[in-house]
Amino acid sequence: MGRLDDKIALITGIGGGMGRAAALRFTAEGARVVGCDLFAEGAEETVRLVREAGGEIENFAPVELSDAAAAARWVDQAAEVFGGIDILYNNASAPRFGAIDELSVEDWDFVIGNELNLVFYATRAAWPHLRKRGGGVVLNVGSIAGTRGVEFMPQNAHGTAKAGVINLTQQLAVEGGPHGIRAVCVSPGFTVTPSTAWLVESGPEPFKQNIARIPLGRVGQPEDIVNAALFLASDEASWVTGINLVVDGGGSVLG
Ligand SMILES: NC(=O)c1ccc[n+]([C@@H]2O[C@H](COP(=O)([O-])OP(=O)(O)OC[C@H]3O[C@@H](n4cnc5c(N)ncnc54)[C@H](O)[C@@H]3O)[C@@H](O)[C@H]2O)c1
Repeated sequence: MGRLDDKIALITGIGGGMGRAAALRFTAEGARVVGCDLFAEGAEETVRLVREAGGEIENFAPVELSDAAAAARWVDQAAEVFGGIDILYNNASAPRFGAIDELSVEDWDFVIGNELNLVFYATRAAWPHLRKRGGGVVLNVGSIAGTRGVEFMPQNAHGTAKAGVINLTQQLAVEGGPHGIRAVCVSPGFTVTPSTAWLVESGPEPFKQNIARIPLGRVGQPEDIVNAALFLASDEASWVTGINLVVDGGGSVLG
């Protein structure tokens, strides 16, 4: 018996990193998954890996989730594949970094569009499907950067967007409760994925010092985050909503 048997899960950003790990784990736990990504190649590889492992998955790519109409189109098409939506896993995002006097207005807008707006667009489109089903889960991915300043890398837009995702989760929990819709957020600390792996090797010294201080003595792997997401998405968490679950080896409790 799987922990997500009979669930239909939409997962954004399955092209690599945590999205791929989520597609693999959720299908292994019995979910039927519909994924999407901007980059078709990575998403197709995820489909291949999932099917090879015996999982059930469909994929739409390329999908540009920062385009409201495209995001809504994907959600509606995805809902048709298996006949509904139980879980919307808003994993995809694309950051840009810069100090306040260096970050361009264009970069700020890009980050808000690709880290916060895309969550709103997909969730807004999924809401009627979740209501029609009598409930479900919106599972967002925040970041420890969403609740603090970070000294080793200027995260103005990124942290602001993730703070928005965390707060949106709380509001969705309030509005979703009466409809049986839970909204939850998992906030990773530094996790090794294709877009972050270079930092471990050749990141700035302050970054290396930061990860060296993580109480549990290591950086995260995509599976660490997906394990938490799996719990939050499953019926085991049926009385958990509005939460921001930090998964960071204890790094963010350091003074
Ligand atoms: N890796 C970390 O250290 C870390 C830390 C904190 C939070 N996070 C969050 O975890 C989530 C996954 O991170 P990751 O490291 O696996 O990321 P990643 O960059 O490896 O993968 C993200 C995927 O989303 C897709 N994507 C990005 N923008 C998109 C768009 N507009 N439309 C469609 N697809 C789009 C990308 O193509 C990519 O395949 C993100 O929300 C990220 O902000 C990551």
